[in-house]
Amino acid sequence: MAEMNAAQLLELVNSRRVGEDGNERVRAITARIVGDLFRTIDEFDVKPEEFWAAVKWLTRLGQADMIGLITAGLGFDRLLDIREDEADLAAARAAGTARAIEGPLYVPGAPLSRNEVRLDTGNEDKGTPFVMEGQVLGTDGQPVPHAVVDVWHCNEFGRYSHFDPSQPEYNLRRRIETDELGRYRFRSFLPPGYAIPPDSPVSELFDLLSRHGNRPAHIHFLVSGEGKRALTTQVNIPGDTYLDDDFAFATRDGLVVELEQAESAAGYESLGMSAPFTRIRFDFRLQDAANEREALAASRYETAHG
Ligand code: BEZ
Ligand code: FE
Repeated sequence: MAEMNAAQLLELVNSRRVGEDGNERVRAITARIVGDLFRTIDEFDVKPEEFWAAVKWLTRLGQADMIGLITAGLGFDRLLDIREDEADLAAARAAGTARAIEGPLYVPGAPLSRNEVRLDTGNEDKGTPFVMEGQVLGTDGQPVPHAVVDVWHCNEFGRYSHFDPSQPEYNLRRRIETDELGRYRFRSFLPPGYAIPPDSPVSELFDLLSRHGNRPAHIHFLVSGEGKRALTTQVNIPGDTYLDDDFAFATRDGLVVELEQAESAAGYESLGMSAPFTRIRFDFRLQDAANEREALAASRYETAHG
């Protein structure tokens, strides 16, 4: 059959196969997506020049390594978190610190320190210094000794090292191994919010959607410990304009920290504190891992198949 209408073409695209190999799930999902796009093109009478402009945009998006910005901006990252939360609720294991999206800007393998670290080394005087400290605990309140707190945030211009070649390797990225009582602490400066790069494929779409591309000030964490379910989360700095209007829909109740004033630097000299300073206290509460995979301290890209 060489001549066909759109419905016949769709049927042919989705049914063609050379054998019984392949993956049924991939076939079924591909068929659904292709069908949805065929219908979208029909319903909106998409013209060839519009279609090819979109293909060109997708190509540029991939070449700029910015697909992860679009998945967040269109809500997919938060959707996956919502679905995991729902699955936890259904399995009666919705406990502990809330998860929050990883985002596309994590880099594995940051330098590891014991108990405490200065995250801001090489960034002195870049903003308000603070110390964040607390414990890694189980949902039963028991400390998790030798847990690892992997922490990262943007620089004073809202840019992340590795993705911004002007910054040193692992700038503002560290891992901290907790002590016997699950305690960690680090010093850094309060980061600003993040904004999608201007004049990029991402900003082109957001301009057309009449949307901003700003995230409120935040600090990322990937926390893991023996027998515990690894937790990817973020905390937000209070007072940010975009706290309730995050372009990535990632802020969550319970993850907006309090900034308190520590009146004395006594006991914080090893972090370079010599005067009253801003302190954040935050404990991470990790669920028990149901299997080894859940305990893996890994980014979404590392746990993805293929
Ligand atoms: C971020 O966490 O900074 C981020 C998240 C999603 C998209 C872009 C950036
Ligand atoms: Fe971020």
